[in-house]
Amino acid sequence: MQELHLLCWVVLLGLGQACPEPCDCGEKCGFQIIDCSYRDLEAVPLDFPANVTTLSLSANRLPSLPEGAFREVPLLQSLWLAHNEIRTVAAGALASLGHLKNLDLSHNLISDFAWSDLHNLSALQLLKMDSNELTFIPHDAFRSLCALRSLQLNHNHLHTLAEGTFAPLTLLSHLQINDNPFDCTCSIMWFKTWALTTTTVSIPEQDKITCTSPHVLKGTPLNRLLPLPCSAPLVQLTYQPSQDGAELQPGFVLALHCDVEGQPAPQLHWHIQTSGGMVEIASPNVGADGHALPGSPAASSWPRFKAFANGSLLIPDFGKLEEGTYSCLATNELGSAESSVNVALATPGESGEDTLGHRLHGKTAEGKGCYTVDNEVQPSGPEDNVVIIYLSHTRGSEATAVGNRVSGQQPLGLLLLGQSLLLLFLASS
Ligand SMILES: *[C@@H]1O[C@H](CO)[C@@H](O)[C@H](O)[C@H]1NC(C)=O
Ligand SMILES: *[C@@H]1O[C@H](CO)[C@@H](O)[C@H](O)[C@H]1NC(C)=O
Ligand SMILES: *[C@@H]1O[C@H](CO)[C@@H](O)[C@H](O)[C@H]1NC(C)=O
Repeated sequence: MQELHLLCWVVLLGLGQACPEPCDCGEKCGFQIIDCSYRDLEAVPLDFPANVTTLSLSANRLPSLPEGAFREVPLLQSLWLAHNEIRTVAAGALASLGHLKNLDLSHNLISDFAWSDLHNLSALQLLKMDSNELTFIPHDAFRSLCALRSLQLNHNHLHTLAEGTFAPLTLLSHLQINDNPFDCTCSIMWFKTWALTTTTVSIPEQDKITCTSPHVLKGTPLNRLLPLPCSAPLVQLTYQPSQDGAELQPGFVLALHCDVEGQPAPQLHWHIQTSGGMVEIASPNVGADGHALPGSPAASSWPRFKAFANGSLLIPDFGKLEEGTYSCLATNELGSAESSVNVALATPGESGEDTLGHRLHGKTAEGKGCYTVDNEVQPSGPEDNVVIIYLSHTRGSEATAVGNRVSGQQPLGLLLLGQSLLLLFLASS
């Protein structure tokens, strides 16, 4: 009998845990409310009753929310955490709160937030994260918040917003996002259009949704931005020596030039596939004098592939090892474009035609007929690789440079296949 008593006590204690020491607990209209605000707390207290629906920890000194911080209170509907010193919300701190409707994390120092936890909070209706130090929002952060009505992100350090960030929030009626240091480039223009014309969401204080950079736009409200000239990259690859180049001697310099257009100015990368492997170069890797830039990962101060800031790629001492596919890839915030040329070298004594014939057989099956001029490689997308092959009659021991004007040889033809092929003939010295 005594044992049974004991058991009952344990069960009762387990169900009706006492109110955690520094907090006030109460019940109102069927809600179990715990108030731990203004208690100088430095950690989330343990041992909350499992049926808590409302928990306030506002105005304490919590430095972070660790994983599983609210695991004991899965029925929580409102969680107030404003005015703490929270810098980090760890992954798994909030994910167990599938019934949460209101979450206030405003007026903290959060820069590190477990965005993926939001995917579990599909009942959330109010999310206050204003006055923190958030620098970005992942594009899919809000994808599960289909009940969200009010979102406050004002007074943070957001520089940009990924297009479509708010699209999953079909019930959203209030969005506050003013006082962030927005970078007014092409990638944020969608937000201006969305906020001004597309959405019915109320977005207050629009005059305080302003640009911080670029400098000329500092302080300009997004809603007064003029349309920016924005265009996706276009690239065109050219090369030298060309058909009418000088006689090629072993150890000549091959120059490829990637002509790039696009606004904002695209970033240029070279991808070089040789038999020795793939080389990837972020351009530029050399200064105008041809020396490796300080801090560039080039192996020596005199790199094998020199990518200049003007879009040129020089390959000094071009030899068999440098044969391969050279691609320049230009990327800006609106997209990317790529152009490739396949460079093969026919050395003296080797039958150029054989090499070429071999390559042609391999390629014609996928060939697309089309002609182009001179030494320009047409801009090519991944599926639409327009291509040139330059042939020359010259071969054998008397092989001379492609296009050597005096020798009177002429291109055999221009063939456009699955990829550009530039065949160089070396003069025997
Ligand atoms: C929550 O649990 C406490 C203690 O077990 C109990 O007194 C209270 O009635 C419960 N409240 C709700 C809303 O279920
Ligand atoms: C979060 O949601 C995922 C998928 O719905 C689920 O597997 C996971 O257990 C949830 N996490 C927690 C802590 O409840
Ligand atoms: C780019 O700069 C390099 C080094 O100054 C120069 O050799 C090359 O000719 C330039 N390319 C063009 C297309 O002007």
